Amino acid sequence: MIGVFDSGVGGLSVLREMRRLLPQADLVYLADQARAPYGERSLQEVRDFSEAIARYLISRGSAPVVVACNTASAAALRGLREQWPGVPFVGMEPAVKPAATLTSSGKVGVLATQATFQGELFADLMARYGNGVEVLTAACPGLAALIEDVPPDDPAAADRLTGHALPLVAAGADVLVLGCTHYSFLQNALAERVGPGVTIVDPAEAVARRVAAVAEEAGTADGSGTTTYLTTGDPVRFARQIEVLLSERVSPEPVQL
Ligand code: DGL
Repeated sequence: MIGVFDSGVGGLSVLREMRRLLPQADLVYLADQARAPYGERSLQEVRDFSEAIARYLISRGSAPVVVACNTASAAALRGLREQWPGVPFVGMEPAVKPAATLTSSGKVGVLATQATFQGELFADLMARYGNGVEVLTAACPGLAALIEDVPPDDPAAADRLTGHALPLVAAGADVLVLGCTHYSFLQNALAERVGPGVTIVDPAEAVARRVAAVAEEAGTADGSGTTTYLTTGDPVRFARQIEVLLSERVSPEPVQL
C-alpha cells in the first residue's frame, strides 16, 4: 500500500496523477483537515503533525509514504527520513529546477505558503538551482484554506492566487511555480488570467512519476487498485470535496491520530 498525506485536499492533485500512473496500486490518502491549514503554522507544529501521520500510515504498511504537501515536506521530510530510515518517503519541493530551464527572462516566480519559504528545504533549493536565475517569491496566506472552502470553479480562489502572481509577472517572471499542492486545482484558471506569455509549472505529475518508480522498488505498485480516503476532519465534507475535485463519489473514513 502507498500512503499519501496533506493538510487537506491539495494532495489530491498528486493522488490523481498517481492513479493514472499506478492504476493497480492500493492507495491510502489521509487529509489532516482538523488541523489544516498548515501554511501559517510554525515549522515545529507541522513537523509534529507530519510525524504522527507518518507513524499512522507506516503502521498500516505504507511504502512509500508520499508527503503530498510542500509545507509538510519543507518542515518535516528530512526528520521523517531520519526517524524511519527503512521507509521510502517521496516529498514535494517547489519546482525551481525545471522552472530555471524554462525561463527566457531569467526570472521565475514561486507561489507557496509562508512556512514553505521558511524551511531549510527552500534555502537548499535556492542554493542548488537558484544560480543564474532570479527567484521571486510570493507567500499566499489564507489561500489553501479558501481552496478547502470554495469549489474550484468559484473565481474567488483563482482571483486571490492571480493577485499574488501578477506582481511577480510585472517584475519580469515568465515562469510561475505552483509551490503548494492546493494551488494545482487553480492551474487552468491562473493560466487564463495571466495570459499565454507565462508558463505555469505544476510538479504533481513529476512527483507521481517518482512515486511510481519508488513503488516499483518497494513492491507496492501492483495490488487491487483501491483508494481509501481518511480525514481527521469531517468525512461528509471531505466526500463532497472529493466529488467536486475528482468527480468521484466515495465514503471517506474518520481517523484520529
Ligand atoms: N497543500 C499544502 C502545501 O502544499 C498545504 C497548504 C496549507 O495547509 O496551508 O503546502
